[in-house]
Amino acid sequence: VTETPAVPSPATTGSALEEVAARIRRHGPLPFDEVMRIALYDPAHGFYATGGAAGRRGDFITSVEVGPLFGAVIARALDAWWDELGRPDPFVVIEGAAGSGTLARAVLHARPACLPALTYVLVERSAPLRERQHDHLQITGASHALPPRDEDAETVRDVASGPRFVSLPDLPIGPVTGVILANELLDNLPIKLLELVAPGEWCEVRVGLTPDERELVEYLVPADPSLLDVVAGLDPTPAVGARVPVQLEAADWVRRAAEVLERGRLALLDYADTTASFAARASDEWLRTYRGHERGTAALHDLGYQDITCEVAIDQVGRVRSGLEVETQAAFLRRFGIEELVEEGRQIWHERGHIGDLEAIRGRSRVNEATALLDAGGLGAFSVLHWRVLPR
Ligand SMILES: C[S@@+](CC[C@H](N)C(=O)[O-])C[C@H]1O[C@@H](n2cnc3c(N)ncnc32)[C@H](O)[C@@H]1O
Repeated sequence: VTETPAVPSPATTGSALEEVAARIRRHGPLPFDEVMRIALYDPAHGFYATGGAAGRRGDFITSVEVGPLFGAVIARALDAWWDELGRPDPFVVIEGAAGSGTLARAVLHARPACLPALTYVLVERSAPLRERQHDHLQITGASHALPPRDEDAETVRDVASGPRFVSLPDLPIGPVTGVILANELLDNLPIKLLELVAPGEWCEVRVGLTPDERELVEYLVPADPSLLDVVAGLDPTPAVGARVPVQLEAADWVRRAAEVLERGRLALLDYADTTASFAARASDEWLRTYRGHERGTAALHDLGYQDITCEVAIDQVGRVRSGLEVETQAAFLRRFGIEELVEEGRQIWHERGHIGDLEAIRGRSRVNEATALLDAGGLGAFSVLHWRVLPR
């Protein structure tokens, strides 16, 4: 038995904590990823199933929620990738973790050249967030998610000319030609946890109950050898007591996404670091909680009432598929013309400021949005994990 983050005993029936406790009684101490899955995604009690969300009125601000500028730059990247692919029609863009559809709307608003060919698939696990996508986007039935390609059925394509928006709870079945992108998805996927208990001896962190069954408590059990790949040869050698996440679900999402994509680009934006660096840092720095725009309590506290998020291990998702390229969000946004868009915004404000309409205000707001998105101590330091997928 190791440190014991105290959790209040369930005061009411029907909570993520009770669900976790019931499973522990049935199966014994649970792997951390199972607890995280219930806390975030349990259909009745999970944080994201019961109203947790990104946004000003939500629990945390993401690049997508800073304002429409981020989507305007993504729209430019989509056009560049569409050109590079030979302007396919349909051009399928799949957004993982699409939330309430904020990025999709910003892309639409930016009117990229690829719009007439665009089938935009919003993949979002949370049912309430999928529901909110309908407020501002005209969502087409999922049965048309992946239209036949040109050569297969010309007539269907005519009926289906873009832009079309489709909403799904999980990745579609491929193959598609286009782009799969996601902002802050991988950090929300459940992780397992390892702790080094003696030189060369890694244990897995499991979550059980205290003998009086009133609190959750961590147990350490010898780690299954299948989990140890990620800690093989870490440099520098971690000190006893070091912890690292094992991101099997994130790796699996990348694997599945790359399989869906026959040809195109896979771009995942997130806060990221390396397993070796996690081992050298305190675990509550890379495994964090948020609610109502504040840092939350310990990860095992308040299950279902706060977001649980883990920085992404670049080396772990990078080994899923060769060809990973990594750049900072700031470099990525500059490469696709954020500075030009800011300049354009300044110009619009200069010309229309005296009118003070929405367009003028949007133009002026680009300056502040860019400052936030490029901030080297914040969003600008996020990583863009990027693969180019070519037919096998
Ligand atoms: C941190 S939010 C990011 C939302 C949005 N991309 C943004 O940047 O504002 C993470 C989102 O990922 C969703 N999510 C988690 N697992 C998912 C999965 N396997 N497929 C699709 N969405 C998922 C959650 O429900 C949540 O809405």
